[in-house]
Amino acid sequence: MTATAVDRLALARNEHMTFRANMGAGRHGWLRLTPAYGVRLVRERISHLPAGSVITDPFSGTGTTPLAAAELGHTGQSVDINPFLVWLGTVKTRRYAGGTLLATADATRAVVAAARARRGDAGLWQPGLFRIEKWWGPGALQALKALRAAIDAYDGAVRDLLDIGLCRSLISCSNAAFNHQSMSFKAATDDTALLDADDVERTIAAFDTEMATVIASARYDLLGSASVRRGDSRQVLADLPPADLVLTSPPYANRMSYIRELRPYMYWLRYLDAASDAGELDWRAIGGTWGTATSKLNTWVPEAETPVDAAMKAVCDNIAADGGRNGPLLATYVHKYHHDMWLHFRSITGHLKPGGRASYIIGNSTFYQHEVPAHEWYAAMLRALGYRDVRVETIRKRNSNKALFEYDVSGTKPA
Ligand SMILES: C[S@@+](CC[C@H](N)C(=O)[O-])C[C@H]1O[C@@H](n2cnc3c(N)ncnc32)[C@H](O)[C@@H]1O
Repeated sequence: MTATAVDRLALARNEHMTFRANMGAGRHGWLRLTPAYGVRLVRERISHLPAGSVITDPFSGTGTTPLAAAELGHTGQSVDINPFLVWLGTVKTRRYAGGTLLATADATRAVVAAARARRGDAGLWQPGLFRIEKWWGPGALQALKALRAAIDAYDGAVRDLLDIGLCRSLISCSNAAFNHQSMSFKAATDDTALLDADDVERTIAAFDTEMATVIASARYDLLGSASVRRGDSRQVLADLPPADLVLTSPPYANRMSYIRELRPYMYWLRYLDAASDAGELDWRAIGGTWGTATSKLNTWVPEAETPVDAAMKAVCDNIAADGGRNGPLLATYVHKYHHDMWLHFRSITGHLKPGGRASYIIGNSTFYQHEVPAHEWYAAMLRALGYRDVRVETIRKRNSNKALFEYDVSGTKPA
Protein backbone atom coordinates (compact mmCIF):
# COMPACT_ATOMS: atom_id res chain seq x y z
CA MET A 1 0.00 0.00 0.00
CA THR A 2 1.33 3.46 -0.80
CA ALA A 3 1.74 6.06 1.93
CA THR A 4 -1.20 7.97 0.48
CA ALA A 5 -3.39 4.85 0.53
CA VAL A 6 -2.48 4.23 4.18
CA ASP A 7 -3.28 7.86 5.03
CA ARG A 8 -6.60 7.53 3.27
CA LEU A 9 -7.50 4.40 5.20
CA ALA A 10 -6.62 6.05 8.49
CA LEU A 11 -8.75 9.04 7.62
CA ALA A 12 -11.59 6.79 6.54
CA ARG A 13 -11.67 5.20 9.99
CA ASN A 14 -12.41 8.46 11.73
CA GLU A 15 -16.04 7.61 12.31
CA HIS A 16 -15.89 9.12 15.76
CA MET A 17 -15.97 12.43 13.92
CA THR A 18 -19.54 11.84 12.71
CA PHE A 19 -23.07 11.64 14.13
CA ARG A 20 -22.64 7.83 14.57
CA ALA A 21 -20.42 8.44 17.58
CA ASN A 22 -23.22 10.42 19.25
CA MET A 23 -25.81 7.67 19.37
CA GLY A 24 -24.65 6.20 22.69
CA ALA A 25 -23.53 9.50 24.21
CA GLY A 26 -26.41 10.47 26.52
CA ARG A 27 -28.31 13.54 25.39
CA HIS A 28 -26.12 13.75 22.28
CA GLY A 29 -27.88 10.65 20.98
CA TRP A 30 -31.45 11.85 21.53
CA LEU A 31 -32.18 12.45 17.85
CA ARG A 32 -29.93 11.88 14.91
CA LEU A 33 -29.11 14.19 12.03
CA THR A 34 -26.79 12.70 9.41
CA PRO A 35 -24.72 15.87 8.95
CA ALA A 36 -24.22 16.29 12.71
CA TYR A 37 -20.60 16.09 13.73
CA GLY A 38 -19.27 13.85 16.49
CA VAL A 39 -19.16 15.05 20.07
CA ARG A 40 -15.61 13.71 20.43
CA LEU A 41 -14.38 16.01 17.72
CA VAL A 42 -16.02 18.94 19.51
CA ARG A 43 -14.54 17.91 22.86
CA GLU A 44 -11.07 17.66 21.30
CA ARG A 45 -11.43 21.17 19.92
CA ILE A 46 -12.58 22.77 23.20
CA SER A 47 -10.77 20.76 25.89
CA HIS A 48 -7.76 23.14 25.99
CA LEU A 49 -9.90 26.22 26.73
CA PRO A 50 -10.06 27.65 30.26
CA ALA A 51 -13.34 26.86 32.06
CA GLY A 52 -16.02 29.44 31.40
CA SER A 53 -14.92 30.16 27.82
CA VAL A 54 -17.59 31.33 25.40
CA ILE A 55 -18.07 29.04 22.40
CA THR A 56 -20.43 29.95 19.59
CA ASP A 57 -21.84 27.65 16.93
CA PRO A 58 -23.57 29.74 14.24
CA PHE A 59 -25.04 26.58 12.60
CA SER A 60 -26.36 24.70 15.62
CA GLY A 61 -28.06 21.68 14.01
CA THR A 62 -28.75 19.18 16.79
CA GLY A 63 -26.90 21.35 19.31
CA THR A 64 -23.75 19.19 19.59
CA THR A 65 -21.47 22.19 20.21
CA PRO A 66 -23.47 24.04 22.89
CA LEU A 67 -24.21 20.78 24.74
CA ALA A 68 -20.56 19.64 24.69
CA ALA A 69 -19.49 23.13 25.80
CA ALA A 70 -21.94 23.12 28.74
CA GLU A 71 -20.89 19.58 29.71
CA LEU A 72 -17.27 20.76 29.99
CA GLY A 73 -18.08 23.83 32.07
CA HIS A 74 -18.11 26.43 29.29
CA THR A 75 -20.78 28.77 28.00
CA GLY A 76 -22.14 27.36 24.75
CA GLN A 77 -24.31 29.47 22.50
CA SER A 78 -25.66 28.64 19.10
CA VAL A 79 -27.92 29.86 16.34
CA ASP A 80 -29.98 28.01 13.78
CA ILE A 81 -32.45 29.08 11.14
CA ASN A 82 -34.65 26.01 11.63
CA PRO A 83 -37.15 26.49 14.50
CA PHE A 84 -37.36 22.75 15.17
CA LEU A 85 -33.59 22.56 15.69
CA VAL A 86 -33.72 25.59 17.99
CA TRP A 87 -36.33 23.74 20.05
CA LEU A 88 -34.24 20.53 20.03
CA GLY A 89 -31.04 22.34 21.06
CA THR A 90 -32.89 24.17 23.83
CA VAL A 91 -34.39 20.96 25.24
CA LYS A 92 -31.06 19.10 25.02
CA THR A 93 -29.09 21.78 26.85
CA ARG A 94 -31.61 22.52 29.64
CA ARG A 95 -31.01 21.71 33.30
CA TYR A 96 -33.72 19.40 34.62
CA ALA A 97 -34.63 19.51 38.30
CA GLY A 98 -35.40 16.21 40.06
CA GLY A 99 -39.05 17.26 40.41
CA THR A 100 -39.38 17.81 36.67
CA LEU A 101 -38.00 14.34 35.96
CA LEU A 102 -40.38 12.73 38.46
CA ALA A 103 -43.26 14.62 36.86
CA THR A 104 -42.07 13.40 33.43
CA ALA A 105 -42.03 9.78 34.65
CA ASP A 106 -45.61 10.22 35.97
CA ALA A 107 -46.68 11.87 32.71
CA THR A 108 -45.13 9.00 30.72
CA ARG A 109 -47.23 6.47 32.64
CA ALA A 110 -50.36 8.54 32.07
CA VAL A 111 -49.64 9.00 28.34
CA VAL A 112 -48.98 5.27 27.88
CA ALA A 113 -52.21 4.38 29.74
CA ALA A 114 -54.25 6.89 27.71
CA ALA A 115 -52.81 5.60 24.42
CA ARG A 116 -53.55 1.98 25.40
CA ALA A 117 -57.11 2.88 26.38
CA ARG A 118 -57.86 4.42 22.95
CA ARG A 119 -60.07 2.37 20.70
CA GLY A 120 -59.56 3.34 17.06
CA ASP A 121 -58.29 6.69 15.87
CA ALA A 122 -61.50 8.51 14.96
CA GLY A 123 -61.06 12.24 15.52
CA LEU A 124 -57.32 12.06 16.20
CA TRP A 125 -55.01 14.56 14.50
CA GLN A 126 -52.45 13.25 12.05
CA PRO A 127 -49.69 15.19 10.32
CA GLY A 128 -50.04 16.30 6.70
CA LEU A 129 -46.92 14.34 5.67
CA PHE A 130 -47.18 13.31 2.00
CA ARG A 131 -48.02 9.59 1.70
CA ILE A 132 -47.84 9.03 5.44
CA GLU A 133 -48.81 5.34 4.96
CA LYS A 134 -45.35 4.77 3.44
CA TRP A 135 -43.72 5.88 6.68
CA TRP A 136 -45.79 3.89 9.18
CA GLY A 137 -48.06 0.87 9.05
CA PRO A 138 -51.65 1.32 10.29
CA GLY A 139 -50.92 -0.01 13.80
CA ALA A 140 -47.88 2.20 14.39
CA LEU A 141 -49.72 5.20 12.95
CA GLN A 142 -52.71 4.70 15.22
CA ALA A 143 -50.45 4.40 18.28
CA LEU A 144 -48.46 7.52 17.33
CA LYS A 145 -51.65 9.52 16.89
CA ALA A 146 -52.92 8.35 20.30
CA LEU A 147 -49.57 9.21 21.92
CA ARG A 148 -49.57 12.63 20.22
CA ALA A 149 -53.07 13.39 21.54
CA ALA A 150 -52.16 12.32 25.08
CA ILE A 151 -48.90 14.35 25.07
CA ASP A 152 -50.84 17.43 23.93
CA ALA A 153 -52.34 17.65 27.43
CA TYR A 154 -48.92 18.64 28.87
CA ASP A 155 -46.77 21.74 28.61
CA GLY A 156 -43.36 23.12 29.64
CA ALA A 157 -40.30 20.96 30.23
CA VAL A 158 -42.36 17.79 30.79
CA ARG A 159 -44.04 18.21 27.40
CA ASP A 160 -40.63 18.82 25.75
CA LEU A 161 -39.20 15.56 27.11
CA LEU A 162 -42.34 13.64 26.08
CA ASP A 163 -41.94 15.11 22.58
CA ILE A 164 -38.34 13.86 22.45
CA GLY A 165 -39.65 10.39 23.38
CA LEU A 166 -42.30 10.63 20.64
CA CYS A 167 -39.66 11.63 18.06
CA ARG A 168 -37.46 8.69 19.04
CA SER A 169 -40.32 6.19 18.83
CA LEU A 170 -41.64 7.45 15.54
CA ILE A 171 -38.26 6.70 14.01
CA SER A 172 -37.85 3.30 15.67
CA CYS A 173 -41.24 2.08 14.38
CA SER A 174 -41.01 3.65 10.91
CA ASN A 175 -40.75 1.83 7.58
CA ALA A 176 -38.14 4.40 6.55
CA ALA A 177 -34.46 3.52 6.84
CA PHE A 178 -32.52 6.42 8.33
CA ASN A 179 -29.09 4.89 8.08
CA HIS A 180 -27.96 6.79 5.02
CA GLN A 181 -28.43 10.25 3.56
CA SER A 182 -31.21 9.47 1.10
CA MET A 183 -33.91 7.80 3.13
CA SER A 184 -35.44 4.62 1.76
CA PHE A 185 -38.62 2.75 2.62
CA LYS A 186 -39.21 -0.94 3.24
CA ALA A 187 -41.45 -2.34 0.53
CA ALA A 188 -45.00 -2.65 1.85
CA THR A 189 -46.41 -6.16 1.97
CA ASP A 190 -50.12 -6.89 1.59
CA ASP A 191 -50.75 -7.31 5.29
CA THR A 192 -49.23 -3.91 6.17
CA ALA A 193 -52.54 -2.42 5.05
CA LEU A 194 -54.31 -4.19 7.94
CA LEU A 195 -54.30 -2.83 11.44
CA ASP A 196 -52.38 -5.14 13.71
CA ALA A 197 -53.05 -4.77 17.45
CA ASP A 198 -49.50 -6.02 18.16
CA ASP A 199 -48.08 -3.10 16.16
CA VAL A 200 -50.14 -0.67 18.22
CA GLU A 201 -48.82 -2.17 21.44
CA ARG A 202 -45.22 -2.41 20.15
CA THR A 203 -45.20 1.29 19.34
CA ILE A 204 -46.65 2.33 22.70
CA ALA A 205 -44.14 0.06 24.49
CA ALA A 206 -41.32 1.58 22.39
CA PHE A 207 -42.36 5.05 23.57
CA ASP A 208 -42.26 3.85 27.18
CA THR A 209 -38.73 2.46 26.70
CA GLU A 210 -37.51 5.57 24.86
CA MET A 211 -38.80 7.76 27.70
CA ALA A 212 -36.78 5.78 30.24
CA THR A 213 -33.63 6.49 28.17
CA VAL A 214 -34.50 10.17 27.80
CA ILE A 215 -35.21 10.67 31.51
CA ALA A 216 -31.99 8.86 32.49
CA SER A 217 -29.83 11.10 30.28
CA ALA A 218 -31.69 14.29 31.25
CA ARG A 219 -30.70 13.56 34.86
CA TYR A 220 -27.01 14.38 34.30
CA ASP A 221 -26.31 17.93 35.34
CA LEU A 222 -24.38 20.34 33.15
CA LEU A 223 -21.31 22.08 34.58
CA GLY A 224 -21.67 25.11 32.37
CA SER A 225 -24.60 26.57 30.50
CA ALA A 226 -25.90 26.82 26.98
CA SER A 227 -28.45 28.71 24.93
CA VAL A 228 -29.76 28.12 21.44
CA ARG A 229 -31.57 30.80 19.53
CA ARG A 230 -33.22 31.31 16.18
CA GLY A 231 -31.36 33.49 13.72
CA ASP A 232 -29.75 33.85 10.32
CA SER A 233 -25.98 33.55 10.57
CA ARG A 234 -25.49 35.61 7.43
CA GLN A 235 -26.58 38.57 9.52
CA VAL A 236 -24.99 40.25 12.52
CA LEU A 237 -25.70 38.17 15.63
CA ALA A 238 -26.91 41.04 17.81
CA ASP A 239 -27.10 40.49 21.60
CA LEU A 240 -24.82 37.43 21.61
CA PRO A 241 -21.84 37.89 23.99
CA PRO A 242 -18.57 37.80 21.99
CA ALA A 243 -16.95 34.39 21.54
CA ASP A 244 -13.51 33.04 22.44
CA LEU A 245 -14.03 30.31 19.87
CA VAL A 246 -16.39 29.86 16.95
CA LEU A 247 -16.70 26.13 16.26
CA THR A 248 -19.15 24.75 13.75
CA SER A 249 -19.97 22.41 10.93
CA PRO A 250 -21.86 24.61 8.48
CA PRO A 251 -24.10 23.28 5.70
CA TYR A 252 -22.07 21.68 2.90
CA ALA A 253 -22.36 22.62 -0.78
CA ASN A 254 -23.82 19.22 -1.58
CA ARG A 255 -27.54 19.88 -2.06
CA MET A 256 -28.42 18.03 1.13
CA SER A 257 -31.65 19.33 2.63
CA TYR A 258 -31.88 19.32 6.42
CA ILE A 259 -35.61 19.91 6.19
CA ARG A 260 -35.98 16.82 4.07
CA GLU A 261 -34.17 14.66 6.61
CA LEU A 262 -36.02 16.21 9.55
CA ARG A 263 -39.46 15.98 7.95
CA PRO A 264 -40.92 13.24 10.20
CA TYR A 265 -40.05 15.10 13.41
CA MET A 266 -41.06 18.48 12.05
CA TYR A 267 -44.50 17.29 10.94
CA TRP A 268 -45.31 15.38 14.14
CA LEU A 269 -44.21 18.35 16.26
CA ARG A 270 -46.24 20.71 14.04
CA TYR A 271 -43.31 22.76 12.76
CA LEU A 272 -44.45 21.87 9.24
CA ASP A 273 -47.96 21.70 7.96
CA ALA A 274 -47.54 21.42 4.20
CA ALA A 275 -44.82 20.71 1.66
CA SER A 276 -44.75 24.39 0.64
CA ASP A 277 -43.64 25.36 4.21
CA ALA A 278 -40.66 23.03 3.79
CA GLY A 279 -39.54 24.69 0.52
CA GLU A 280 -39.87 28.16 2.08
CA LEU A 281 -37.75 27.18 5.10
CA ASP A 282 -35.15 25.47 2.92
CA TRP A 283 -34.75 28.57 0.77
CA ARG A 284 -33.79 30.58 3.85
CA ALA A 285 -31.11 28.01 4.81
CA ILE A 286 -27.64 28.27 3.28
CA GLY A 287 -27.36 25.63 0.56
CA GLY A 288 -31.10 24.98 0.72
CA THR A 289 -32.32 23.50 -2.49
CA TRP A 290 -35.49 21.55 -1.85
CA GLY A 291 -38.88 22.07 -3.55
CA THR A 292 -39.55 25.74 -4.29
CA ALA A 293 -35.99 26.63 -3.21
CA THR A 294 -34.69 25.13 -6.47
CA SER A 295 -36.91 27.24 -8.72
CA LYS A 296 -36.04 30.39 -6.76
CA LEU A 297 -32.38 29.85 -7.64
CA ASN A 298 -33.21 30.61 -11.28
CA THR A 299 -33.80 34.27 -10.51
CA TRP A 300 -31.22 34.74 -7.75
CA VAL A 301 -28.74 37.62 -8.08
CA PRO A 302 -25.77 38.16 -5.75
CA GLU A 303 -25.83 41.13 -3.40
CA ALA A 304 -22.06 41.17 -2.83
CA GLU A 305 -18.79 40.23 -4.49
CA THR A 306 -16.65 37.66 -2.70
CA PRO A 307 -12.85 37.26 -2.57
CA VAL A 308 -13.18 33.91 -4.35
CA ASP A 309 -15.32 35.09 -7.27
CA ALA A 310 -12.60 34.48 -9.88
CA ALA A 311 -11.76 30.94 -8.69
CA MET A 312 -15.43 30.16 -8.30
CA LYS A 313 -16.27 31.40 -11.78
CA ALA A 314 -13.76 29.01 -13.33
CA VAL A 315 -15.32 26.02 -11.52
CA CYS A 316 -18.90 27.19 -12.07
CA ASP A 317 -18.31 27.70 -15.81
CA ASN A 318 -17.22 24.04 -16.03
CA ILE A 319 -20.24 22.85 -14.05
CA ALA A 320 -22.56 24.92 -16.25
CA ALA A 321 -20.94 23.54 -19.41
CA ASP A 322 -20.85 19.86 -18.40
CA GLY A 323 -24.06 19.58 -16.40
CA GLY A 324 -26.47 19.44 -19.32
CA ARG A 325 -29.85 21.01 -18.65
CA ASN A 326 -29.16 21.30 -14.89
CA GLY A 327 -25.63 22.67 -15.27
CA PRO A 328 -26.42 26.41 -15.14
CA LEU A 329 -28.72 25.94 -12.12
CA LEU A 330 -26.09 23.98 -10.20
CA ALA A 331 -23.45 26.57 -11.05
CA THR A 332 -25.76 29.20 -9.52
CA TYR A 333 -26.24 26.93 -6.50
CA VAL A 334 -22.48 26.74 -5.91
CA HIS A 335 -22.15 30.51 -6.38
CA LYS A 336 -25.02 31.33 -3.99
CA TYR A 337 -23.72 28.90 -1.34
CA HIS A 338 -20.28 30.56 -1.20
CA HIS A 339 -21.75 34.04 -1.52
CA ASP A 340 -23.91 33.30 1.56
CA MET A 341 -20.94 31.89 3.45
CA TRP A 342 -19.02 35.09 2.66
CA LEU A 343 -21.87 37.14 4.18
CA HIS A 344 -21.62 34.82 7.18
CA PHE A 345 -17.82 35.14 7.58
CA ARG A 346 -18.13 38.93 7.42
CA SER A 347 -20.76 39.04 10.16
CA ILE A 348 -19.25 36.37 12.45
CA THR A 349 -15.91 38.19 12.48
CA GLY A 350 -17.56 41.05 14.39
CA HIS A 351 -18.77 38.52 16.96
CA LEU A 352 -15.40 36.85 17.63
CA LYS A 353 -13.18 38.36 20.33
CA PRO A 354 -9.87 39.78 19.04
CA GLY A 355 -7.38 36.90 19.25
CA GLY A 356 -10.23 34.35 19.19
CA ARG A 357 -10.17 31.40 16.82
CA ALA A 358 -12.74 30.29 14.26
CA SER A 359 -12.88 26.63 13.23
CA TYR A 360 -15.09 25.31 10.42
CA ILE A 361 -15.54 21.57 9.80
CA ILE A 362 -16.36 21.46 6.10
CA GLY A 363 -16.25 19.02 3.21
CA ASN A 364 -15.47 19.55 -0.46
CA SER A 365 -17.95 18.37 -3.08
CA THR A 366 -18.07 17.47 -6.75
CA PHE A 367 -20.51 18.33 -9.50
CA TYR A 368 -20.06 16.51 -12.82
CA GLN A 369 -16.52 15.54 -11.80
CA HIS A 370 -15.59 19.15 -11.06
CA GLU A 371 -14.37 19.63 -7.52
CA VAL A 372 -15.85 22.45 -5.48
CA PRO A 373 -13.04 23.08 -2.96
CA ALA A 374 -15.10 24.79 -0.26
CA HIS A 375 -12.24 24.29 2.22
CA GLU A 376 -9.83 26.31 0.08
CA TRP A 377 -12.38 29.02 -0.55
CA TYR A 378 -13.20 29.25 3.16
CA ALA A 379 -9.48 29.70 3.90
CA ALA A 380 -9.24 32.42 1.23
CA MET A 381 -12.24 34.22 2.73
CA LEU A 382 -10.76 34.11 6.24
CA ARG A 383 -7.44 35.47 4.92
CA ALA A 384 -9.29 38.26 3.08
CA LEU A 385 -10.86 39.25 6.42
CA GLY A 386 -7.41 39.53 8.00
CA TYR A 387 -7.37 36.24 9.97
CA ARG A 388 -3.89 35.05 10.94
CA ASP A 389 -2.51 31.52 11.03
CA VAL A 390 -5.17 30.20 8.63
CA ARG A 391 -4.89 26.40 8.44
CA VAL A 392 -6.60 23.67 6.46
CA GLU A 393 -6.33 20.29 8.19
CA THR A 394 -7.71 17.14 6.56
CA ILE A 395 -9.59 15.19 9.20
CA ARG A 396 -11.58 12.47 7.48
CA LYS A 397 -12.34 10.79 4.21
CA ARG A 398 -16.10 10.92 3.64
CA ASN A 399 -16.86 8.48 0.92
CA SER A 400 -15.21 5.28 -0.19
CA ASN A 401 -15.19 5.90 -3.91
CA LYS A 402 -14.94 9.62 -4.39
CA ALA A 403 -12.35 12.21 -3.49
CA LEU A 404 -14.52 13.63 -0.76
CA PHE A 405 -12.84 14.72 2.45
CA GLU A 406 -13.67 16.64 5.55
CA TYR A 407 -11.44 19.48 6.66
CA ASP A 408 -11.02 21.76 9.62
CA VAL A 409 -10.47 25.27 8.29
CA SER A 410 -9.39 27.58 11.08
CA GLY A 411 -7.92 31.01 11.67
CA THR A 412 -7.27 33.56 14.42
CA LYS A 413 -8.86 36.96 14.41
CA PRO A 414 -6.18 39.65 14.78
CA ALA A 415 -5.90 41.06 18.31
C1 LIG B 1 -24.32 20.65 9.14
S1 LIG B 1 -25.68 21.24 10.08
C2 LIG B 1 -24.97 21.48 11.65
C3 LIG B 1 -24.78 20.20 12.38
C4 LIG B 1 -24.32 20.38 13.82
N1 LIG B 1 -22.91 20.68 13.93
C5 LIG B 1 -24.64 19.12 14.63
O1 LIG B 1 -23.73 18.51 15.19
O2 LIG B 1 -25.81 18.74 14.67
C6 LIG B 1 -25.90 22.88 9.47
C7 LIG B 1 -27.02 23.66 10.14
O3 LIG B 1 -27.02 25.00 9.64
C8 LIG B 1 -28.35 25.51 9.68
N2 LIG B 1 -28.42 26.70 8.82
C9 LIG B 1 -28.46 26.77 7.48
N3 LIG B 1 -28.49 28.05 7.07
C10 LIG B 1 -28.45 28.82 8.18
C11 LIG B 1 -28.42 30.23 8.41
N4 LIG B 1 -28.47 31.09 7.40
N5 LIG B 1 -28.35 30.66 9.69
C12 LIG B 1 -28.31 29.79 10.73
N6 LIG B 1 -28.36 28.44 10.57
C13 LIG B 1 -28.41 27.96 9.32
C14 LIG B 1 -29.18 24.31 9.22
O4 LIG B 1 -30.52 24.44 9.66
C15 LIG B 1 -28.43 23.14 9.89
O5 LIG B 1 -29.02 22.85 11.12
